[in-house]
Amino acid sequence: MENRDLLCENLSVSSDGKTLLFAGYDTNALAKKYGTPLYLMDEMRIRERIRTYKKALFDAFGDKGHALYASKAASFKRLYEIMREEGMGIDVVSSGEIYTAMKAGFPMAHSYFHSNNKTDEDIYYAIECGVGYFVVDNAEELFAIDRIAEEKGLVQNLLLRITPGIDPHTYAAIATGKVDSKFGSAIETGQAEEITRTALSLKNIKLCGYHCHVGSQVFDSDVYISTATVMLKFVADMQEALGFKAEQLDLGGGYGVRYICEQPKIDIYENIMQLGAFMKSEAKRLGIELPSVSLEPGRSIVADAGLTLYTVGTVKRIPEYKNYVSVDGGMTDNIRFALYGAPYTILPSGKMDEKRDMKASVVGRCCESGDIIQENVMLPSSVGRGDILATLTTGAYHYSMASNYNRIGKAPVVMLTPDKDYVAVRRQTLEDISAQDE
Ligand code: LLP
Repeated sequence: MENRDLLCENLSVSSDGKTLLFAGYDTNALAKKYGTPLYLMDEMRIRERIRTYKKALFDAFGDKGHALYASKAASFKRLYEIMREEGMGIDVVSSGEIYTAMKAGFPMAHSYFHSNNKTDEDIYYAIECGVGYFVVDNAEELFAIDRIAEEKGLVQNLLLRITPGIDPHTYAAIATGKVDSKFGSAIETGQAEEITRTALSLKNIKLCGYHCHVGSQVFDSDVYISTATVMLKFVADMQEALGFKAEQLDLGGGYGVRYICEQPKIDIYENIMQLGAFMKSEAKRLGIELPSVSLEPGRSIVADAGLTLYTVGTVKRIPEYKNYVSVDGGMTDNIRFALYGAPYTILPSGKMDEKRDMKASVVGRCCESGDIIQENVMLPSSVGRGDILATLTTGAYHYSMASNYNRIGKAPVVMLTPDKDYVAVRRQTLEDISAQDE
């Protein structure tokens, strides 16, 4: 058994060495009970990650440190309930996420509404739902919010999304902090100052501070220090130029997680403590009061709390070329290899004691050659029809990016706690899939 592949403490192997356990549960038994493909989520791990962020932010910034969950990483009712129970704020990006959070009874005053293109309908809906803060991407949106807030007879709180011009050293599709990004207003071009002036001139909004997010799956802690340096300087510059004192500074999400054992483990607590010490001294050096500081992690809250189980179907061996192991899911439940070439660890749930001597591409069931979960996976050569495979670290951006391509139903999400396993999202039925067809 290759222990190094057990990426997170919630993974272990049964005493006879055969079965993969997740959050203490026998993964083969869960596959049998709920069917596959199946998303599992370890509720205690989610709560533990939330508490780590909250404690770190409190220890680093006192009452001025706030943690928000970026719910795009995994969005369904039960998760918003957990966020509510844990006293976490949330970041939402669409009317759909707002609606789901409302259904969970989430206190919307603690929500931040992002997105680079909010429609008027979104803005009306968010205001009606009492969203605490809009994170405004551009001037057009600012005018729309001001107009709709006036119609509604209220003053809407907001932050401005600023592009600090930082390269987060992650893959291009999820880098967002560079000047040419589709998100936010760049400091370098003068647009960040311009939008601040505009915001300060409008009557039906209240500018509370700034937001930035430089990218996702970031391992380099220097990235946050550089981002904080640029943003604090901008806060100081705006205070000097416009007399505007930012109350809030949100540095976004992005801490990386391990999909394969070669990736480093990040000590979130330590990182945030360092960031706190740096920001306090930098604010002092600049002669400004440190605004309250938020982080909005998504992936690092839920990623390794998740795991996907599949049943193997066809195993195709093309002599001297390649082996294919087909599973009953694919790009419909995990689009990340197709989109980003993302790496994954895949383990044979019931054959953890066998030598992994067959190299294979683990592929899905969609009619598309790009429907690959991972290439060059080492599996026991005995793996065949009916065996269960587990893809690790699938709690973030899997269920939330799932599709019905080929009219394949979305997999259910089953939560695991020390006392019980329960369905948080049920499996889509054939009826569900065609429910909107007139
Ligand atoms: N805040 C903002 C404004 C964001 O855009 C994001 C992620 C986050 C926070 C959370 O970042 P995290 O802590 O999860 O890295 N679908 C891609 C990831 C896209 C990330 C989009 N924004 C993936 O599967 O890797």
